[in-house]
Amino acid sequence: MRRLSFLMPGCETVENSNPARRHFLSIMDLSVDALEGLIDRTLALARGAPVKPLVGSVANLFFEPSTRTRVSFELAAQALGARVVNIELASSSATKGESLTDTCATLAAMGVGTLVVRHPDSGAVATLAADLQGSAQLVNAGDGHGEHPSQALLDAATLQATGLDWPNATLAIIGDLRHSRVARSGLQCFHALGIGCVRLAGPELMLPDWEVGSRVERVHSIEAAVNEADAIMMLRVQHERIDKTIWPEPRTYARDWCLREEHLARAHPDCRVLHPGPINRGMEIESRVADGRQSLILEQVRMGVHARTAIFEWLKDEQQS
Ligand code: CP
Repeated sequence: MRRLSFLMPGCETVENSNPARRHFLSIMDLSVDALEGLIDRTLALARGAPVKPLVGSVANLFFEPSTRTRVSFELAAQALGARVVNIELASSSATKGESLTDTCATLAAMGVGTLVVRHPDSGAVATLAADLQGSAQLVNAGDGHGEHPSQALLDAATLQATGLDWPNATLAIIGDLRHSRVARSGLQCFHALGIGCVRLAGPELMLPDWEVGSRVERVHSIEAAVNEADAIMMLRVQHERIDKTIWPEPRTYARDWCLREEHLARAHPDCRVLHPGPINRGMEIESRVADGRQSLILEQVRMGVHARTAIFEWLKDEQQS
């Protein structure tokens, strides 16, 4: 976008361009210290620590459906005292052909300092951050099958709150790994925290075609994946990102890859069960497990508000440093 290079006398620019401005785009951008600091802060907030107020405006731009992420970013921003605006694709000028960059530059020109963006294209939020040249801080709320770093943060905090011993822990991640931004960001995060072993399992056409890193085993059945596991993360089939010709037959998928009580019996007696949501009951997890004693699914949702509050605080701290 071309920018006007003059201002009316007495007017102050609200662009505040600063190419070095920090964003929350990827777990890979964080040092281990920063990641651990964010987890510690998330857990402190979950225990009731007071928030650090945030002056300014936050815009939520969700160009894909969301319940958990959008609402928790909104609640977090409100808890910090920020003004929040929600932009839905259907009611935005994107429907008139405006580019994502132009939409976001427009919001930044109005003084919106933080843009929380979910987009169906992998890499879209990082590209946007570069295009905006520091006129706003960007938060990646999920980009295609790329990354979902705030989900990784809340998942790690949820596991840490249960006392998971990272170096000695075995975590099974099961389901549609190939198209899962949750799995990709999660693996980056759990590796950074020094997890002992991650087992990946799912249908052949849903195994990762991306770099999975070290301390990872690929196994070929749900039984092998959950054996003595300390934590199990089930994934939703990302039907919106899958070529329909390889779309699994639901009954076959459920038979082979739905987490049931008989599977949980093979895991560690205190094995934690996670799912990022939304869950498809009976497809990737049966209700007795989703609602059972070992399920952390709603705890993940609760932790999501605290994790996103910690992210906003961290962005503010970075702005001041
Ligand atoms: N886990 C997650 O991203 O959920 P939503 O799509 O509801 O935000």
